[in-house]
Amino acid sequence: MSNMNKEKNLSTSQNIENRAIPAHTIGEVFVDKPRMTARNVDVYYDDKCAIQDVTIDIGAQQVISFIGPSGCGKSTFLRCLNRMNDTIDTCRISGEIKIDNDNIYDPNIDVVSLRARVGMVFQKPNPFPKTIYDNIAYGPRIHGLANNKSELDDIVEHSLERAGLWNEVKDRLDKPGTGLSGGQQQRLCIARAIAVSPEVILMDEPCSALDPIATAKVEELIYELRNQYTIVIVTHSMQQAARVSDRTAYFHLGKLVEVGETKEIFINPKHELTQDYITGRFG
Ligand SMILES: Nc1ncnc2c1ncn2[C@@H]1O[C@H](COP(=O)(O)OP(=O)(O)O)[C@@H](O)[C@H]1O
Ligand SMILES: [Mg+2]
Repeated sequence: MSNMNKEKNLSTSQNIENRAIPAHTIGEVFVDKPRMTARNVDVYYDDKCAIQDVTIDIGAQQVISFIGPSGCGKSTFLRCLNRMNDTIDTCRISGEIKIDNDNIYDPNIDVVSLRARVGMVFQKPNPFPKTIYDNIAYGPRIHGLANNKSELDDIVEHSLERAGLWNEVKDRLDKPGTGLSGGQQQRLCIARAIAVSPEVILMDEPCSALDPIATAKVEELIYELRNQYTIVIVTHSMQQAARVSDRTAYFHLGKLVEVGETKEIFINPKHELTQDYITGRFG
């Protein structure tokens, strides 16, 4: 229950509509072996505050789920973790975010390399209009990860294997990635993220466009991948959060209300807002 958020101007927490939101995040904000750390992060779109004073550690080789009602800032905060918000003109971020002690908003950091270290998988599978092989080989080529064709072949095979897709596609590597089923396309996108050896993979509702069988496959994959990668997943499915994640963070109106072990959050939530959400009182 260590929460050392700095004192800050939290005047909005006195507003009537916000009065139930705690001034500081409840639960276990910090972990022993963080892969990433966020401290006092605020995000604005023009003058509209989308994330307010979020402090959290992302543990190494764990899955953490971000849950909360639509519009509470889950995607906004996720995108802060690899500077994907840079592409939105009106978006302003303050506070500090680090990966392994490197400040990711340091003006000297190379954003392309950062996004290789912190990869991303989106809601809708978005394979490149290229062959299956080239979808995977694209990143390693850009980052110069292979010295020759055979090394590149190995990366492609290994990445597809890690994503549980190799057996399904090994005979059609020269066919377009867009010709695969939705679930296969999403696993292709995960393989593409893996191909550049990321430390962290961000996933924004990666199963919401998939059928239940494809969803189950992607969930199994997420669960396995955490042995090697740190995974942050936004999900609107509480069952999914409960199935795949070690820790869960509950966001509400731009604030991080509560975070802790997934079991604790679902069995024994400490804050009434978390409880209301997980019992389906709103959402
Ligand atoms: N590109 C954007 N420009 C302006 N406002 C945005 C943009 N993206 C999100 N927002 C606003 O920020 C808030 C948080 O949105 P978002 O992060 O998408 O929430 P969630 O992923 O939890 O549904 C919402 O009020 C949303 O309307
Ligand atoms: Mg979202």
